[in-house]
Amino acid sequence: DKYCVIMAGGIGSRFWPMSTQKFPKQFQDILGTGRTMIQQTYDRISKIIPNENIFVITNKEYVSLSHQQLPEIPEENVIGEPMAKNTSACNLYMANKIAEIDPNATMIVLPADHLILKEDIFLQKVELAFDLAAKNDYLVTLGITPTRPDTGYGYIQFVEKKDSSYFKIKTFTEKPMLELAQSFLESGDFLWNAGIFIWSVKSIHHAFETHLPEMTQHFKACEYNAESEQSCIEIIYPKVQKISIDNGILEKAKNVYVIPSDLGWSDLGTWTSVYENAEKDENSNAINQKYLLTYNSEGNIVHIKNNNKMVVIDGLKDYIVVDTDKVLLICPREHDQLIKDYVLDLKNFK
Ligand code: GDD
Ligand code: MG
Repeated sequence: DKYCVIMAGGIGSRFWPMSTQKFPKQFQDILGTGRTMIQQTYDRISKIIPNENIFVITNKEYVSLSHQQLPEIPEENVIGEPMAKNTSACNLYMANKIAEIDPNATMIVLPADHLILKEDIFLQKVELAFDLAAKNDYLVTLGITPTRPDTGYGYIQFVEKKDSSYFKIKTFTEKPMLELAQSFLESGDFLWNAGIFIWSVKSIHHAFETHLPEMTQHFKACEYNAESEQSCIEIIYPKVQKISIDNGILEKAKNVYVIPSDLGWSDLGTWTSVYENAEKDENSNAINQKYLLTYNSEGNIVHIKNNNKMVVIDGLKDYIVVDTDKVLLICPREHDQLIKDYVLDLKNFK
């Protein structure tokens, strides 16, 4: 059978101060569509996967938020992690759990915070991926044509075969430095990893055994039944390595395949990505304020929580300005990847 795992344990620290540890972005309606990011993720995939086969894995702090926002899926399908260990641990854990139900299962792993405008194409590519994963020992990812040298993504180099809807990948480079990202972009041989993965539980097990054998060993001690599951996860999680599935598995595996997918995709992970998807004025400013005067200012994203605050901006170019009850952030847009470091520094400061 087909299963889905929605990964929703991140705190979205590059999207601070709108996204916070208490209320991370996947549980917010960032673009004002009426549905939160995780709800939109569920809405898309529930067209092809039944509710009882959809799981959410998140920090235990967000289990009740997940229940509230996704009342359609069985409560026991929301799994709470005791700590953030990045995406390898949650993927292995869920593949083990699903294998207990159905050893021949295929599964799709979805981030909880992506915008996908072309839902029909998404579903079509996902069906193709499920088909490939069911018939082959492939780890399948969806690839997006890159539009800027973003250092926040994985870059996939693929081997071109004419007239194919999928390709074997040559290299996978997670979050390259800016110069490298620039050369990848210029070469034209690369796609962004959309962070959406499709594989059989057998193939992903095999990949973990090969590339993260220690983690595989730790999780062997786990029992996946309702009584012991939570206590088990509490014991094992502290021991496992904190590493993303991209660094832990995809950069190393030799059987990764990519399906180029024009999805109208965006990882609403940073202020720049929100800027790109927001409505802008004639000077390319994305500003959510009613009482606003701008002079000689362009390319800014300004997000003020208090809609009644009067805002005047003069001579500002390509900046992020975010004002909430507790925080005022002002930084150049090109530093948006550094925001997570500001959050860390602030913790030390308190
Ligand atoms: N359960 C759980 N536990 N989920 C987590 C954890 C964790 O410890 N850490 C992150 N997640 C969730 C996030 O909530 C998000 O939905 C998803 O896993 C991906 O994590 P991100 O932190 O957003 O990853 P990223 O954006 O830096 O990079 C990934 O996505 C890019 C595309 O958006 C990578 O796969 C890149 O290669 C890819 O280009
Ligand atoms: Mg992300």
